[in-house]
Amino acid sequence: MAKKKILGIPGSVRTQSINQAILQNIADLYADKLDLKICSDLSQLPHFNPDLGDDNLAESVAKFRQEVSDADGVIICTPEYVFSPPAILKNALEWTVSTTVFSEKPVALIVASGLGEKTYESLTLILHTLGARLPPSSKLLIQGARAKFKAAGDQQTIEELKRTMASFIQSIENLH
Ligand SMILES: Cc1cc2nc3c(=O)[nH]c(=O)nc-3n(C[C@H](O)[C@H](O)[C@H](O)COP(=O)(O)O)c2cc1C
Repeated sequence: MAKKKILGIPGSVRTQSINQAILQNIADLYADKLDLKICSDLSQLPHFNPDLGDDNLAESVAKFRQEVSDADGVIICTPEYVFSPPAILKNALEWTVSTTVFSEKPVALIVASGLGEKTYESLTLILHTLGARLPPSSKLLIQGARAKFKAAGDQQTIEELKRTMASFIQSIENLH
């Protein structure tokens, strides 16, 4: 079977980001099944402004929308900042609201943070509002992420990550 085209969206642009590392681990672990491309720097997108309609759309926004649209599935992997999704991630999602790029799109949501609960809830609501396919089994909240991903990674978390990925892959296969 052809590899599934997956877009990984990290909510952190930090050089040593745990969330970027998790996406990279998923890419390595599922290299035989998934062609996972980690999204280019979300901080390049302009601030969302509904006045900037399709006639004045920045190239970076058009590219981001196309990447989401072209993907068989999307993995969002993000920390929490002040009990909210990071602004760059929220901004990117705002740019998709007037489109259907997330409609019926299989999505996996991973929040790896110190706490992360509010962001997990908030992104669940946002993604459902965008029409994404996000079954509960395709979501994972990794609290105390920094400690859990020290050295080789916490075994229980790795098992949870694998279960989340199995659900995500299933949800893509159900569509085809
Ligand atoms: C400004 C700022 C605010 C933060 N607020 C929260 C928060 O509200 N909840 C939480 O769980 N972690 C919070 N953190 C901790 C980050 O989520 C944590 O450092 C995480 O590992 C960052 O993800 P990354 O390693 O992928 O960059 C905050 C960090 C910063 C820098």
